[in-house]
Amino acid sequence: MSDDTQDHDGSRRDFLYLSAGAFGAVGLGAALWPFISSMNPSADVLALSTTEVDLSQIADGQRVTVKWQGKPVFIDRRTPKAISEAESTDLADLRDPQTDADRVIQPEWLVVVGVCTHLGCVPKGQKPSEQRGDWGGWFCPCHSSHYDTSGRIRKGPAPLNLPVPPYEFLNDTNIKIG
Ligand code: FES
Repeated sequence: MSDDTQDHDGSRRDFLYLSAGAFGAVGLGAALWPFISSMNPSADVLALSTTEVDLSQIADGQRVTVKWQGKPVFIDRRTPKAISEAESTDLADLRDPQTDADRVIQPEWLVVVGVCTHLGCVPKGQKPSEQRGDWGGWFCPCHSSHYDTSGRIRKGPAPLNLPVPPYEFLNDTNIKIG
């Protein structure tokens, strides 16, 4: 073994030793952080739990998908026809009875979590080219669940309507989900 190699190994051991010391310090900091952060959530932690959406970018009849807490949320700027179909539905025809008024803040805007309540697939229908099922809402191809224009389950194995997440209007054109 040459002197060069010994020097090299020596400096490498020093480096590893120093790194271990540094990681030890980081580990201590990481162990303390959850206690501090749970008492006083930072702004970026709070921001991750909400999603703001500018509705002015969405055209009449258009559907867009946004991400909220890792889940897809469907936003549908509903046409007058879609609204009237949702509002005129007889509650007796529904598996999970809910009026459309109970599921929207403004009838023009439907906001629902886009996760099928059967086994968690993401239903089709966000793009105009996709199937929307027999009631013109969404269709889950995994086991053929059909949702209406209010996101309510109408046919297939899914037991419940697409959930409405907590959200509020910040002004005429912006909502905050979460
Ligand atoms: S997961 Fe949607 S129908 Fe089964």
